[in-house]
Amino acid sequence: MLLAGKSVLITGAANRIGAQIARTLHESGANLIIHYRHSIKAALSLNEELNGLRANSAETMQAELSDLSNLSTLAQNAAKTFGKLDVLINNASSFYPTPIGEINQQHWQDLMSSNFQVPLFLSQACYPYLRDSRGIIINMLDIYASAPLKNHSLYCCAKAANQMLVKSLALELAPEVRVNGIAPGAILWPEQSDAAETDAQKAILDQIPLGRSGSPESIAQTALFLINNDYLTGEIIRVDGGRLINNF
Ligand SMILES: NC(=O)c1ccc[n+]([C@@H]2O[C@H](COP(=O)([O-])OP(=O)(O)OC[C@H]3O[C@@H](n4cnc5c(N)ncnc54)[C@H](OP(=O)(O)O)[C@@H]3O)[C@@H](O)[C@H]2O)c1
Repeated sequence: MLLAGKSVLITGAANRIGAQIARTLHESGANLIIHYRHSIKAALSLNEELNGLRANSAETMQAELSDLSNLSTLAQNAAKTFGKLDVLINNASSFYPTPIGEINQQHWQDLMSSNFQVPLFLSQACYPYLRDSRGIIINMLDIYASAPLKNHSLYCCAKAANQMLVKSLALELAPEVRVNGIAPGAILWPEQSDAAETDAQKAILDQIPLGRSGSPESIAQTALFLINNDYLTGEIIRVDGGRLINNF
């Protein structure tokens, strides 16, 4: 129970990778604040699951993060729930193609906000609490922050900015707060994929030296490692089955 007594806020934690990180950190003893936006059913179900395993060890919080005025309340409430805040995981994200010729301001706002602006402003809002607990921020990045995915310029640029944010904050918030990133490769495909996307997914799998997609558990184990290793900051760990080896 390496994380016993630690309090963790994960954004977009109701489903998929965020939910697995919540389960893995909870299994290590952490108390969880499960943030969600629309996925109330999944968030409540995860909350019930975790509290069923250990009473009073999880809480849900709803917020539309792109409305920046919600962030200080979220940070305050998260720190109040278990009396402190040790870990912030900026996991919430939007992801979809934005081919040139079709990009509009709403795409810009949505993709830049969830993948870059919110991680910055929520980190800022949580910083006083994380400083008090000598805590850690983990930003969920993407291998596409380093090598772009065709037709996804906005998403790639937002994650690239977020990658620099990790390093900038690691420098600025040291020595009290550590800041690291995880750059997943192919872990979970978007939930609705058409035939063309399924073909593109097969082509991606062909480029992965390990020959398969990763699991949410492989990401959650990386988060656990980053939290537990107290001499790591400014580090970005790729978890991609070797996919980027050929690109550098
Ligand atoms: N899946 C992969 O293979 C993969 C690969 C590379 C990188 N990543 C990164 O890993 C992280 C997790 O990936 P994922 O696929 O599990 O994520 P996801 O399912 O696409 O999104 C996670 C959650 O983010 C929340 N969200 C999005 N915009 C929001 C906003 N404006 N305000 C509040 N919440 C918002 C949504 O919550 P609600 O459902 O509650 O609305 C959503 O369920 C992301 O940062 C992603 O970029 C994933």
